[in-house]
Amino acid sequence: MNNTKPPEFKTQFAEDVFKGLTSYPKKISSKYFYDDKGDELFQQIMDLPEYYLTGKEYHILMRNREEIGDAFASFEGFDLIELGAGDGKKTKVLLRHFEQKNYDYKYLPVDISKNVLEQLSGSLQQEFPSVDVEPQQGTYAEVLSRLSDYRERKKVILFLGSNIGNLSQEEAVNFLKKISSAMHEKDLFFMGVDQKKEPQVILDAYDDSAGVTEAFNKNLLVRMNRELRANFDPETFLHWPIYNPETGVAKSYLVSTKEQTIQIDALDMEVHFQKWETIHTEVSQKYDDTSIAWLAKEAGLEIAGSWADKENCFKNYLFKRITT
Ligand code: AVJ
Repeated sequence: MNNTKPPEFKTQFAEDVFKGLTSYPKKISSKYFYDDKGDELFQQIMDLPEYYLTGKEYHILMRNREEIGDAFASFEGFDLIELGAGDGKKTKVLLRHFEQKNYDYKYLPVDISKNVLEQLSGSLQQEFPSVDVEPQQGTYAEVLSRLSDYRERKKVILFLGSNIGNLSQEEAVNFLKKISSAMHEKDLFFMGVDQKKEPQVILDAYDDSAGVTEAFNKNLLVRMNRELRANFDPETFLHWPIYNPETGVAKSYLVSTKEQTIQIDALDMEVHFQKWETIHTEVSQKYDDTSIAWLAKEAGLEIAGSWADKENCFKNYLFKRITT
C-alpha cells in the first residue's frame, strides 16, 4: 500500500474493498457477489446437482403447501412479504396454492436489485395475472422499518433459501430482532434454513465439479477489475471452500497461488499478497434445531411449526412473536 490518507470513496463497494483488503486477514463480503454476472451464476448454482438447497426447499414447500397455507391464511387475508425474493421459483409453489384456495392476499417481494424485481414482476404478471404484487426496492432493513408501522392486517414475512446463513451469529441475532420488532401479535415469520449434515455433502455444494461456484467466487475479482479498475488475474487464485462440522460454518476463500502486488486504480492503492495469502469471501452457516431455537429466543421469537425433508437436510421454520 502506498497511500497515506484514505481516499474519498465513491461507492460502498469501493469503501468495503478498501477496508477489507487493508485488513488482516483480508476479506470481502459475499453481498458483492451479486452483480448482473453474479445473479446469473447464482441462477446456475441453484440448478447444480451438488447444490441441494434449492431443490430440497422446493420439495418441502411442494409437499407441505396445504399445511403451510393453512398457517398463513386468516379471515382478514394477509400480506406476504418476501425478503430477497430472487426469481421466485420456490415462492410460486405457494402462490399457485394460494390462488387455488382463493386466498385474499397481496405479495410484496423485497430485493435490493431493481433488475431482479422487474424480472420477477414480469413473470408474475404472466403466471399470476390476478395476484396483487407490490415490489419493494431497498435493503431488508429499510423495508422492514417501513413495514413495521403497517398493521392493516396479518403480515407473513418470508426468508427462504437459507439466506440467513450468510450472516454471522451476531448479525443473525440482530437481523431476527429487527424482524421480530416489525411483527405484530398475529404476524408470522417463515424461514428456510440449511441443516448440519454429512460434511462432504456440504463441501460438495460449494465446490461443484462444473466450476460454477468457483466462477461465482472469482466474480468478485472480475467485479473489482471492472468497477474499481483493478488488475487481478483470477487464474492466480484458488477457490477454496471449507466446512467445520463442529460449528456448522462453511466458508469460502480466494487463495493467492503466488506472491503478487495488485493495482486498484480507482482506490489509488496497491495490495500485496504473499504466496498462499487468502481473501475470505463468504460464510454459509449451517444450523440445527438447537441453534435455531437459541437464535429465536434471543430475538424474541418462538417456533410455531417446522417442515423438513426425510433426511432433515433442509428445514423451514415458522415463527411467531413471543408476547409478554
Ligand atoms: C444464497 C446465501 C443461500 O450460501 O448457500 C451458493 C449462496 N454461495 N453457492 C449459500 C451461495 C455459494 C447461498 N445463499
